[in-house]
Amino acid sequence: MPSDKSIFQPDQKLARSAYVSTFQQYEESYKESIEHPENFWGNVAKQFHWETPYDLSNFNSFNFDISKGPISIKWMEGASTNICYNLLDRNIKNGHGDKIAFFWEGNHPDDYSRLTYRKLLEEVCRFANVLKQHGINKGDRVSFYMPMVMELPIAMLACARIGAVHSIVFAGFSSDSLAERMNDCKAKLLITADGAWRGEKLLNLKKICDQALDKAEELGHHVETCIVVSHIKRVTAPKEELVDDFSVDMRDDRDFWWHDEMEDAEPSCYPEWVAAEDPLFMLYTSGSTGKPKGVLHTTGGYLLYASTTFKIVFDYKPNDVYWCTADIGWITGHTYVLYGPLANGATSVMFEGTPFYPDNDRYWAVIDKYKVSQFYTAPTAIRSLMKFGDSPVLKHSLETLKVLGSVGEPINPEAWLWYYKIVGKERCSIVDTFWQTETGGHVITPLPGATPMKPGSASFPFFGVKPMLLDEGGKEIQGEGEGYLVFSQPWPGMMRTVYNDHKRFESTYFSKFPGYYCTGDGARRDADGYLWITGRVDDMLNVSGHLMSTAEVEAVLTEHTRVSEAAVVSRPHPVKGECLYCFITPNQNEVFDKKLVDELKVLVRERIGPFAQPDVIQNAPGLPKTRSGKIMRRVLRKVAVNDRDVGDISTLADEAIVDQLFANRP
Ligand code: PRX
Repeated sequence: MPSDKSIFQPDQKLARSAYVSTFQQYEESYKESIEHPENFWGNVAKQFHWETPYDLSNFNSFNFDISKGPISIKWMEGASTNICYNLLDRNIKNGHGDKIAFFWEGNHPDDYSRLTYRKLLEEVCRFANVLKQHGINKGDRVSFYMPMVMELPIAMLACARIGAVHSIVFAGFSSDSLAERMNDCKAKLLITADGAWRGEKLLNLKKICDQALDKAEELGHHVETCIVVSHIKRVTAPKEELVDDFSVDMRDDRDFWWHDEMEDAEPSCYPEWVAAEDPLFMLYTSGSTGKPKGVLHTTGGYLLYASTTFKIVFDYKPNDVYWCTADIGWITGHTYVLYGPLANGATSVMFEGTPFYPDNDRYWAVIDKYKVSQFYTAPTAIRSLMKFGDSPVLKHSLETLKVLGSVGEPINPEAWLWYYKIVGKERCSIVDTFWQTETGGHVITPLPGATPMKPGSASFPFFGVKPMLLDEGGKEIQGEGEGYLVFSQPWPGMMRTVYNDHKRFESTYFSKFPGYYCTGDGARRDADGYLWITGRVDDMLNVSGHLMSTAEVEAVLTEHTRVSEAAVVSRPHPVKGECLYCFITPNQNEVFDKKLVDELKVLVRERIGPFAQPDVIQNAPGLPKTRSGKIMRRVLRKVAVNDRDVGDISTLADEAIVDQLFANRP
């Protein structure tokens, strides 16, 4: 395996034509972006339409120090714009009306379609008018629970066009999770589809929405309207027999079919000019206390940041075809399936299916089908495809590829090398992009023509981003070393608040180290200045790139009537990166048996979603607690990997418990 010393230079041809083609050029632009953000971002802003212009003397302002007053981050205050106008109307005015915005590739290879910028605008306007007819106004929240179909970007942009705030819930979350999120943001309207195929599995999304709408009602919130896309009938069924049993209930007073609503809707809609700091969307992310946080992003700064990171990090050129495999339900889909590409007038592939259907070469087949030049996916997907060996990849030419992206978790050097050699044929640059729902876009990443790559290192900060490493005491670590990864100044795309809970925003991100935005991740800087993300330093887990908190899973496990206590830790997993390893103490006189384990797995799936299902649930007659009652999680992490080297346990109230836990490993 390569050490810090293994460096891979960008391909010469790629470097020559890249926007940023040498490391020196990167360093110069970086310096400018940090020292004069208003000049740097002011130049970017010039390409967009501002209905009310921005003022360079008042371009950005911020306070990162709670001791000096409320945390506040503002870009281009006083300017007004509309992001949908900038993504669609502006590109059409610039002569790109007939350019393909999206190639849509369905779950089944027989299902595909395309949408030009002009047609997309028409559909967006129609749906914006539908939203207005249903009483949606500027500032209202609209929730989504959608598969990867074209109506999803259409409806998101329709919200943006009228100034409504979209709140997308990944359609793998449970009805409980959806209800909780709709209640938190007080959504007025929900958009969904009847169902969707994932490979050969048929999901009844409307049914999950019905349950969620009922549950939201129980929580005291009434969602007035639900609009449903009829999807199942228009696509190829991998298993016909499943369709025979498929049905959805429509409630007369609440539910409307998308196609009925769109039938008479006008294809034009004047954009609502919104302030640069008006909200664009919120997206929930796990919180370490269990309750999800509605991360809020605003309009002007997000537009600048999504468009610039997309263009520079993927080196997107006008004739390229770009493909990001992320679901729009996650931030990667927001910024790099929708906003970033469209802001650049790009042509993208939007994919509904899975990498394994109909065969495990589907990704590679799709790359060749659309002549994809930039491909962006997650380490967990790369690892799961590596398992099938090289031959599914080698069946396809992949000659159009030039940049390969990775996101969501640290990429292990073995997966990096496979991606680089087998998929990228040693001529593509790999951009290992580190960022978060909160950061809005890439914050630490190589640039494909400029940064010599080290497998597993996210390398250097993007323009405008100033990372630092701090020790436990908040002292800056200069040069080589490892510490908490923080940022000392804002960039345009960062979150502005937690929806309806600014205090929580301040306490989560700004209280540990006053004056800094704290990522919750650790990082190491090597002798060459490269940054290596070492993983979460809080009680968060990253399973297949899905972030969740140990607290939220523990809260679900202890809901079971037979469970007294639960503790959850992460264990390394060869494909998922990390998996959930749970310790359960049953109530007195209760036995720990397979029935209990099965019920707990179902409970977690129901409450959170299938992706959160624990891999291991072990019996713990007691948990390793200190005399003050705090669970010593590092001991549990050792038990999970069967490593007896548990270190100093003298502060435990009962040391004997450790041996018992090892003896009880399943
Ligand atoms: O721990 C880091 C990890 O994913 C977290 C953010 O998760 P989320 O908000 O769901 O956004 C994921 C997509 C941007 C981070 O705090 N993470 C993300 N990308 C990387 C990463 N860890 C290491 N390397 C990365 N490239």
